[in-house]
Amino acid sequence: MRSVSLSRFLIDEQWQSHAIPADLRLLVEVVARAVKAISIAVGKGALAGVLGDAGSGNVQGEAQKKLDVIANEILLEANEWGGHLAAMASEEMEHPQGIPHRFPKGEYLLLFDPLDGSSNIDVNVSVGTIFSVLRCPEGVDPTSEQAFLQPGTQQVCAGFAVYGPSTVLVLTLGKGVHAFTLDRELGSFLLTRESIRIPEETKEFAINMSNQRFWEPPVQRYVGELLAGKAGPRGKDYNMRWVASMVADVFRILSRGGVFLYPRDLKDPSKPGRLRLMYEANPMAMIVEQAGGAATTGRERILDIVPASLHERVAVILGSKAEVEVATRYHQG
Ligand code: AHG
Ligand code: MN
Ligand code: MN
Repeated sequence: MRSVSLSRFLIDEQWQSHAIPADLRLLVEVVARAVKAISIAVGKGALAGVLGDAGSGNVQGEAQKKLDVIANEILLEANEWGGHLAAMASEEMEHPQGIPHRFPKGEYLLLFDPLDGSSNIDVNVSVGTIFSVLRCPEGVDPTSEQAFLQPGTQQVCAGFAVYGPSTVLVLTLGKGVHAFTLDRELGSFLLTRESIRIPEETKEFAINMSNQRFWEPPVQRYVGELLAGKAGPRGKDYNMRWVASMVADVFRILSRGGVFLYPRDLKDPSKPGRLRLMYEANPMAMIVEQAGGAATTGRERILDIVPASLHERVAVILGSKAEVEVATRYHQG
């Protein structure tokens, strides 16, 4: 079989399918190039002195790892001069960042979680990068938060990379989900899975069980029923997986089904969830829906949420449709 590179795939999307304009193709190419650079840094690990704490904190009040900062800088630098962006926003930056005056500007807004799964960096477990693309509304300052505060349904593209045993880039342009594996010798991404579909039924769930005592009753009920196994109301035994890198958990769900939950809990009532809406929940929700799955907060569809602030957090339940529907139904009852 002849291999299809990401560049070839995008050119076909632009010229054959008329599915994307040239500047969106460039945007994806540039993000993929940055992902390649991050993958190299992650892969070098201790050899390049990139492990450990950066000694700084981000706007979320989280201690930054060196690789959080390095990945953020790689994405910023790669995307500032191509002429495809109006501004960028990141988990690691309090405010959106404009394009320097000396460079041309475009119509897109790029949001990213430069390094997802930071707690796994120093223990050599998979981490990743998540990104989301919006159009900058006309007449709005692209560096204002307001430009970014659009519901997930407005995303024109979303994707994530997993830096695992192999580096994989998962991408949706709004018409299905495709995965590309990095050929390290060639230095290019090759299409390895086309039109991914999440199996509707599953026997696998992912949740941080250590938070159980803080969960709300609907989540207690749902997970309790899964744990009851064959003898319980669901009538089958479930298996549990929790990587603590959303990218790896979602990639597993895209591969063999499953449900992922980071629900709202009572640990810190000021936070409506752990994960961030704009650069974690929204891009993952778009990808999961495009692959035939579902994504809700338990109370509403994630993609319908009108964001109130750039770093807003939400509850996340996503994956195989049938499971997400059960968990969501319990929240409504
Ligand atoms: P980040 O490293 O970008 O802050 O995100 C980590 C997220 C997500 O990837 C993962 O599912 C979750 O946090 C893990 O949370 P716990 O540490 O509570 O397991
Ligand atoms: Mn993250
Ligand atoms: Mn992160």
